[in-house]
Amino acid sequence: MNSEEQKKQAALKSLEFIADDCVLGVGTGSTVNHLIAALPSVKNKIEAVTSSSKASTMLLEENGFRVDDLSSVGSPDLYIDGADEITEHFHMIKGGGGALTREKIIAEASRKFVCIIDGSKLVDLLGKFPLPVEVIPMAKSLVARELTKLGGLPELRHDFVTDNGNLILDVHNLKILDPVDLENHINNIPGVVTNGIFAQRSADVMIIGNESGPETKIKN
Ligand code: 5RP
Repeated sequence: MNSEEQKKQAALKSLEFIADDCVLGVGTGSTVNHLIAALPSVKNKIEAVTSSSKASTMLLEENGFRVDDLSSVGSPDLYIDGADEITEHFHMIKGGGGALTREKIIAEASRKFVCIIDGSKLVDLLGKFPLPVEVIPMAKSLVARELTKLGGLPELRHDFVTDNGNLILDVHNLKILDPVDLENHINNIPGVVTNGIFAQRSADVMIIGNESGPETKIKN
C-alpha cells in the first residue's frame, strides 16, 4: 500500500469521530484532501465547518459545504488534520503546507484533535522534517539569525506567501529534544508569528494508515 492509499485510509477512518451535530475544524494538506472528498457522506451530522486555509475552504465549498469563520463557530467539537511528523507522545511538526498558524489556532480552540497520517510520519524524535516558522516579512533576517543561534539552518521558502501575508523559514538541523520548550522559545523571538511544533496543544488521537488497516492510538 503506497503512502497516498495510507493517507486515504486514515482519513476515512477519522469520519468515525464525527458525531451528530458536529462543529468541525478541517486542516490542510493531501491527507485532509481525502477527508474533504469523503465529508459529503456524513454531511447530515455536520452542523458547521471551519477551515485552516484558503485551499481547504475552496475544496470544502466545491464539495457543497458553507465554511464559517472560527469566531462565528466558537469551539469546534473536533479538528481533523495531518502532520509532517508525530511522536508517540502525540507531539507534531506541522506546516509543510504553510498553514501552520491557522492550524494552531483551530487546534487550540477545538475540544478534540484527530491527526491523520501515513506510516512514514510516525517518528522517534522530531526534527528530521525541516521546522516551518511563519515570520513577519520585515523580521526575516533577525529571526533567521536567532534560529541559527539555536543550531538551526533556516532556509526561506521561495515563492511562497502564507494566507496571512507572511513568509516561511524552513529550519533544518534542529534537535528537538524538548518540543514544548523549543516551541515556546521560538515563539518568543520578535517577528515570529508561530512555529510548526505542536507540543503545547498536541493531538488527542492519531490514526495511522498501514498495510493491515488503519491503526488508532488515543493519548492517555
Ligand atoms: C499543512 C500541514 C499538513 O498537515 C502537513 O504538511 C501534512 O501534509 P500532507 O497531508 O500533505 O502530508 O501541516 O500546513
